[in-house]
Amino acid sequence: MLANFINLRQASSVAGQVDSLFDFLTLFSALSFFVVIAALVYFTFKYHRKKSDPETTPYIEGHPLLEGTVVVGLFILVMGVFYWGWLGYKAMRNVPANALEINVLGRQWTWDFEYTNGRHSENLKINVNGRDLAVPQLVIPKDRPIKLLMTSQDVLHSFFIPEFRVKQDLVPGSYSYLSFTATEVGEYQVYCAEYCGLDHSMMYAKVKVVESAEYDQWQKKWEWEKQLGISDSDAGSVGKTVASGEAPVVSSKTPVEKGKDLFDVRCAVCHSVDGTLKIGPSLKAVFGHEVELQDGKKVMADENYIRESLMDPTLKVVKGFQPMMPTFKGQLSDEEVNSIVAYIKSLAN
Ligand code: CUA
Repeated sequence: MLANFINLRQASSVAGQVDSLFDFLTLFSALSFFVVIAALVYFTFKYHRKKSDPETTPYIEGHPLLEGTVVVGLFILVMGVFYWGWLGYKAMRNVPANALEINVLGRQWTWDFEYTNGRHSENLKINVNGRDLAVPQLVIPKDRPIKLLMTSQDVLHSFFIPEFRVKQDLVPGSYSYLSFTATEVGEYQVYCAEYCGLDHSMMYAKVKVVESAEYDQWQKKWEWEKQLGISDSDAGSVGKTVASGEAPVVSSKTPVEKGKDLFDVRCAVCHSVDGTLKIGPSLKAVFGHEVELQDGKKVMADENYIRESLMDPTLKVVKGFQPMMPTFKGQLSDEEVNSIVAYIKSLAN
C-alpha cells in the first residue's frame, strides 16, 4: 500500500508479505504518535495548575490491573510482530530443492553472474550522468525459484533489488545466499546497498525477468552456439544486450567441469570421489550431509564448509583423519573456489 506512493512494483513472491508488515508497522507507529501527542496536549490543558490548587502535589496510587494490561498487551503485540516478520524471513531463507542456482560475484564496482552451464552475464552499455557504464544483466525466468550463491572478491557489498524486496550482504571469504521467485516479467534495477568505496553508487546491475520458456530457449541457443564455436559475444541475447570489453573471460566449461579439472590436479591425490579411502576423506556424497569432526562435533557440509576447508583446512578436521591438508588461501580465485564447490556439490547424488 505505502509502496504505491513511490510507485514501487511488487515483483517477487515475498514482496507482498514484506509490504504488509511494513505497512502495519508504519501505520501503527503513526497512529501511536498521534495518540500520544493528543493525550499530551489534552492533559496539558486538563491538569494545568489553577490558582485555587493547593501548594502540594496530591499522592497518586498505582493501578496494577491497568499497568499489567499495558505491559502484557505490548508484549503480545511485539511478539506478534516478531512472528509476522519471522514468517517472511523463513519464506526467504528456505530454498526450494528445485531452485535455479546462479553464482554472484561482487567486486569494486560491478557484479558478475555465472549460470550453471558456464555462461556469464553480458553487459548493457548504459549512460549515467554522462558516464558510460557497463552494467551486467542477470536474466532469470518468471515463476521459478532462484538461489543466488554470493560472495565478494574484495570488500562487503550488498545485493539489493527494491522491486523484489530482497537484500543480502556479500561477504569476502564466505558464501551468503538470496532466494526468491520473480512473479512479473520486466526489467529491474539492482543496487549495491553497502558502502564499498568510490563508485559504490554506480555499482549497478539489471535483472531481466522473462517467461520460463523464453529463458530456456535463451540458454539453449547459447549452449548450441558454444558447441558450434560461434562467438558468444552477443549470442542469444535477450533484448539489447551488447558485449563489452570488460566482460569476464568466458570459459567454454561449466562450473562443474572447471571444478573437476581443478580437483583432478589439486585435490585428487588425497581425496577420492568414489568412496575409496585416501589420505583425506572421500568427497563422495558429502555435500548436504552432516560430517563428524575430530572433537565429536557435527557440521553440515554446505558451501561455506567446503570453502572453509579449502582456506583453513586444519580448523575442522574430519574424525579419523590427520590435520595435514595445506591451505589454498591465495592460490584459488573466487571463481575457482565456486567451481570446486559446484563440483563437490555434483558428487552429492
Ligand atoms: Cu558494492 Cu557498495
